[in-house]
Amino acid sequence: MMIRLSGITPSGEAHLGNYLGAVRRWAREPGPDDLYFVSNLHAMTTPHEPERLRSLTQHQLAFLVASGVPWESMFVQSDLVREHMALSWLLECTCTFGEARRMVQFKEKSEGNSSVRLGLLTYPVLMAADILLHGTATVPVGNDQKQHVELARTLARRFNTTYGEVFVMPEAVVPTAGARVRDLANPAKKMSKSSSDQDGIVYVLDDPAVVRRKFQRAVTDGLNSVRYVPQEQPGVANLLEILASCTDTTPEAAAEGITGYRDLKEAVAEAVAAEAAPVRERMLDLLEGGAELQKIRAAGAERARERSAARLNRALELAGVG
Ligand code: TRP
Repeated sequence: MMIRLSGITPSGEAHLGNYLGAVRRWAREPGPDDLYFVSNLHAMTTPHEPERLRSLTQHQLAFLVASGVPWESMFVQSDLVREHMALSWLLECTCTFGEARRMVQFKEKSEGNSSVRLGLLTYPVLMAADILLHGTATVPVGNDQKQHVELARTLARRFNTTYGEVFVMPEAVVPTAGARVRDLANPAKKMSKSSSDQDGIVYVLDDPAVVRRKFQRAVTDGLNSVRYVPQEQPGVANLLEILASCTDTTPEAAAEGITGYRDLKEAVAEAVAAEAAPVRERMLDLLEGGAELQKIRAAGAERARERSAARLNRALELAGVG
């Protein structure tokens, strides 16, 4: 088995960047041993509201199911909270303070912040536990997470040589490129769940009228020329990339026949609304119904527990506590 593991952190609602950039691809090209999980324990490293986290966890799980990701391959991290935390502790006791402190993401996010949570420092170790618990061989991640997968490798190697062979050595892989969707109000930035400005983010659950309004207000430029030149016209290029991604073509081809920004914005809004409609409807059904989603969630937890139990027990035993 070549397990490939991907996580989605419920730090906000699902948006177009999540869908076109990653989740649609997960649904289109599922591998036989893929695992997808909602990493809700990772959404607690900064102040959070418990009820919002609970509902965002359901929201992201429903998003995965509604997008067509095979439901047999998914689970929610906190449904295996004991397993993940037990392994995380073994790995915290394998990791040095220096290694944790050197993580670039920690350095960036903690700089100048005196009330930074300890969880922000140890979060890459929890991520290593996610990866190693499930016997992961490959982890598709962006550049910002590569160092964390490297840490998981270091900890796996150290544990295996110190106590005995138990963990599969994971490897970071570059995900096949999906669309890089940018913020409509600020095309210099990626569309992001944790952005404070909502105007430039198109959510999967936005109704078509809201989608249209957000695209009408999208930032463009004064050149009034519909061409794909990202360096000179980042706003227009972003709209063309979104249009191309929704219609399965290239940004250059998507630009053909469109003369003005108004037409472009209308075309993108329409394509996005059409692409998102089935996902949105299925998601609303799942969230309203509740029972089906609960069943998927419970079955996923059961499978994940069965898959990981022997490895966790062996690791506890090797470390002298099992
Ligand atoms: N840290 C990842 C992110 O912010 C999410 C994540 C948590 C993850 N645990 C993981 C991804 C394990 C892959 C494997 O995007």
